[in-house]
Amino acid sequence: MDYKEYRELLLQYRELDKTPFDPKETMEDVIGKLIHISSEKKRIKTACNEIIEEYIKKYEKSPELLDSDSEKMLKDFLSTLVGEVGDTPIAFLISKLFLKYYRDTGDKERTIIMLEYCSVFDIIIKEHLDDYAGSEYPRMAEKYMEDFDSLSEQAKRSLFNSLMLGVVNRKDMTYGLRKYKEIKSWVKSINWPEGKEFIDIQFARCRENALGFTLEALRREEYAKKKGEKVSESEYFIDIEKEAPFIEELMRFTEETLESENSQKTITDRVVAGLYCVQAAYHLGKITMEELLKKIDEYSEQREDYSAAEKCSALFTANAYYIDYLCKCSDYDQKYVLDKSSEIVDKVLAGAKNMEEYLGNYQTNYCVLMLVNSASAVINFDAFKTTVLKSTVYANKALYVHTMMVKELCFVLLDYILEHDPKYFDNVAGHTWEEFRDNHDEAKELMEKCALFHDIGKYFCLDYVSNSSRNLTDDEFEVIKDHPANFLKIYQGKMSREVECVHDCALLHHLWYNETRGYPNGGRHTYNKPYVNIISVADSIDAATDNIGRPYGQGKNLDDMIEEFDSMKDTRYSGYICDILSEGEVREKFEYILNTRRKEIYFDIYTSY
Ligand SMILES: [Fe+2]
Ligand SMILES: [Fe+2]
Repeated sequence: MDYKEYRELLLQYRELDKTPFDPKETMEDVIGKLIHISSEKKRIKTACNEIIEEYIKKYEKSPELLDSDSEKMLKDFLSTLVGEVGDTPIAFLISKLFLKYYRDTGDKERTIIMLEYCSVFDIIIKEHLDDYAGSEYPRMAEKYMEDFDSLSEQAKRSLFNSLMLGVVNRKDMTYGLRKYKEIKSWVKSINWPEGKEFIDIQFARCRENALGFTLEALRREEYAKKKGEKVSESEYFIDIEKEAPFIEELMRFTEETLESENSQKTITDRVVAGLYCVQAAYHLGKITMEELLKKIDEYSEQREDYSAAEKCSALFTANAYYIDYLCKCSDYDQKYVLDKSSEIVDKVLAGAKNMEEYLGNYQTNYCVLMLVNSASAVINFDAFKTTVLKSTVYANKALYVHTMMVKELCFVLLDYILEHDPKYFDNVAGHTWEEFRDNHDEAKELMEKCALFHDIGKYFCLDYVSNSSRNLTDDEFEVIKDHPANFLKIYQGKMSREVECVHDCALLHHLWYNETRGYPNGGRHTYNKPYVNIISVADSIDAATDNIGRPYGQGKNLDDMIEEFDSMKDTRYSGYICDILSEGEVREKFEYILNTRRKEIYFDIYTSY
């Protein structure tokens, strides 16, 4: 496929993706469209990725081949990727190639511009990692600060942007503040009258980033204190006494920007900036918790002059903060916190239902996550379950379908074993096998929870999981590898034996049965292994056979899968479970779920929400 063909496909894809689902359409129509879109998406992305990777390999070996034509083409790709396809790792690849090329050829201007690109992509990709210690690119950009006066207007802007991205650092929050201070004093030393307005706007953004990270750290600190943990040893520690003047300064400037007439902010930006200001006021002791919550609530209002997306953003963002402060920082009694949190979760999810167009993007995933995360600290496990499920429907339909499919497949295996060999379940979730034999409903209920939560950690990396049509890059894989362990980050309530079983299924479902491969490295001893084994098999079967929703699903059939499982008995999968797959009744039920139920679940979800 050449460049022109690629462009045409891309246009087609855009049209297709915009087509709304009509609730009156038949199941065949809906499924047909889904298959079409996912196969087009896959085709386009794969073609595009292949072309680029080919070019990049070629130029890395012989940089002299990068003539102005191919340079233009790659740049074109880059802007299309950023704007339309959003495949960050590929865009990052191109930027890195350009960066290397321009540096080697001594093109200072363009090097600086590429440093900006690389900084942005690096942050988008790595920021998911909780110990993200900043990007190397802003640090590389610092070397050009001395040359500032000699740069073109565009390069000046790029340099400025890269430097400011240096404040993003999850591992060391005070680093961000220090960078902010450094840039602030440097700005005084430069002479750039043409850039005054640009500096004001970008600097306001930089301050907000720094403020946002600081607040996040302060919230963590308060929660840690509440739980009786030693705060000063935490890596997120910010000395509020010492940093108060700076936090105050950040807050004051953010307030000023909000009030100034010509600030070019969108409503969404203004809501976020406003929320930061009231939170900072609280941490600085200027307002009480009660006042803070009241103010946050005001920001969640869905005003008439807001667009649907803005309403959604205000609703999600403000309430996510509301619930976080309420649950983690306030002194209200448990009962009040519990009632209020449930009320807010319901309010947010009800509101989300009418704002389809805004859902599914990163901001929403993040807010849902925050909401669920905070709610889990106080809400009981059943309420948590409802919240997670509802949120998944809104935030990522493919994940929801996968979850439901895994649940149904697990039920078949569970039923079969309960019927033929209940002893298999001895000691699962603290129950004896006789208890399982005598109470199938309870066993099923537990299985359901394990299935529903096994991928909950994907909220941290949804944008990758749902967007890829190629092999994962190392960075992406690092992020994905975190998803089994993320259950603990999300569920912060007290662990009963039951929750422990759910946790083990989430944690261990990608680890090989013999624990030699997969992730996370090294298992943990658990009596819940029978449930983990079931989830692990059901999970792989759904993932490998789905040809509807997964843009890179291989769409294998069950027979192929069973053959594959046979070769991985007692290595990747439990041989015991693999053998059950070949039983006639199990196989029949699996065929039905994979061929008929999957379509029904997709149909339901795409037509009713
Ligand atoms: Fe998974
Ligand atoms: Fe899964």
